[in-house]
Amino acid sequence: MKLKTIVSMLGTIAAFTSAVNAAGNAEALFDAKCAVCHSKTRPADMSKAVAPAIMGVMRHVKMTYPDKDAAVKFMVDYVLNPQKEKAICMPQKIQRFGLMPSQKDNVTVSELNKITSWMFDNFPPANFRGMGQGKGFGKGQGR
Ligand code: HEC
Repeated sequence: MKLKTIVSMLGTIAAFTSAVNAAGNAEALFDAKCAVCHSKTRPADMSKAVAPAIMGVMRHVKMTYPDKDAAVKFMVDYVLNPQKEKAICMPQKIQRFGLMPSQKDNVTVSELNKITSWMFDNFPPANFRGMGQGKGFGKGQGR
């Protein structure tokens, strides 16, 4: 076996192990990979925002993809290959913030599956006004 093959196999194993370790840690992954741009709360000062807050993003994702599997699939693809034609957010969002830069060097598919599934389950929060479908909202985390 060539050394190169072995090295690349080791890389795969390392990536797999870190994905397993990250299980149940989706929020920490979001904080590390997405929160730099996407706020988890409604920003007090929107003029400083560089991307739409996650509750707004999820509201629009769910309007287009109410089904969790489809929503996760859409988001995983979008984060790796953002394109204006695919976007479900309001066109003004892209005009204002610019297209999201691809995160493919920053996050793996298995991490993204966890992050976006967590996003689907937790956003928009139950008390977010004006949200669409009620499916799956409001469980846990009562006040
Ligand atoms: C460098 C800043 C930046 C980072 C990091 C970032 N995003 Fe974004 N994201 C944006 C911007 C800007 C938009 C709005 C424009 C657009 O939709 O392309 C956006 C839009 C989105 C959308 C809506 C797509 C649509 O249909 O319009 C989703 C879903 C999303 N981001 C998920 C993520 C996830 C998950 C991560 C972490 C893995 C992440 N983003 C990291 C900047 C970022």
